[in-house]
Amino acid sequence: MTNTPYGEIWRTQPPRFWNWMWQTRCGAVVTERILSLCLEADSIIEIGCGYGHFCKELLKRGWTGSSYLGFDLSDGPATFSEIVPAVVARKADFMGVLAEDSSAIGNVDLIISQAVLCHQAHWLPMTLAAMKHASAIALDVSYVTDEPLHNPRRRDDGCYDTYISEKLLLTEIAALGLPIKVERLYNNKRGCAELLLTTHKRYALRELPK
Ligand SMILES: C[S@@+](CC[C@H](N)C(=O)[O-])C[C@H]1O[C@@H](n2cnc3c(N)ncnc32)[C@H](O)[C@@H]1O
Repeated sequence: MTNTPYGEIWRTQPPRFWNWMWQTRCGAVVTERILSLCLEADSIIEIGCGYGHFCKELLKRGWTGSSYLGFDLSDGPATFSEIVPAVVARKADFMGVLAEDSSAIGNVDLIISQAVLCHQAHWLPMTLAAMKHASAIALDVSYVTDEPLHNPRRRDDGCYDTYISEKLLLTEIAALGLPIKVERLYNNKRGCAELLLTTHKRYALRELPK
């Protein structure tokens, strides 16, 4: 296990962990919403694509877009990269790739992530980075509570869950004037609330309020 400022590297997690992750996501409202948005998108980036469960489900549902680019810190990408020509998955830190050479990513129709923001030190940097590189974003925040935002807990698997506070999240989005829509949806399989952050407006950093 190696921690980076932008996420924990789950190098040793076996694929069965992602099987469990997927079982509690597929059929759940947030994932179904993200799947339907992806079906309308030609180019997609998935941050934290893991072992490709989402990507494979998208293909099963008939996605025929021109490019899906997945990033994950784990060994997952190698297991499904290029299953069809449009799919490329890289073992990389999404934030690190952007910092080194943002032209390597360019601009896509939609950037998505699931169960990734809740593992970041803060929701904002990754969200802004996604908004900068896509016409639309659909990012979820799992396991939402109103506990203090900057009070990450170390779980027994060594990862930090920030348990992002919905109240603070909404306050920060309003204060920053970000064009982000936040929906609270319930995941029956997990027995917890999840937030879905979306935007359909192309976002430029220069639009930040002064
Ligand atoms: C809880 S898992 C979710 C996996 C998958 N999205 C799902 O819902 O089944 C979080 C994933 O995000 C990845 N991750 C976290 N921060 C990342 C970053 N900065 N860049 C790329 N992947 C990241 C981790 O390696 C891990 O695979």
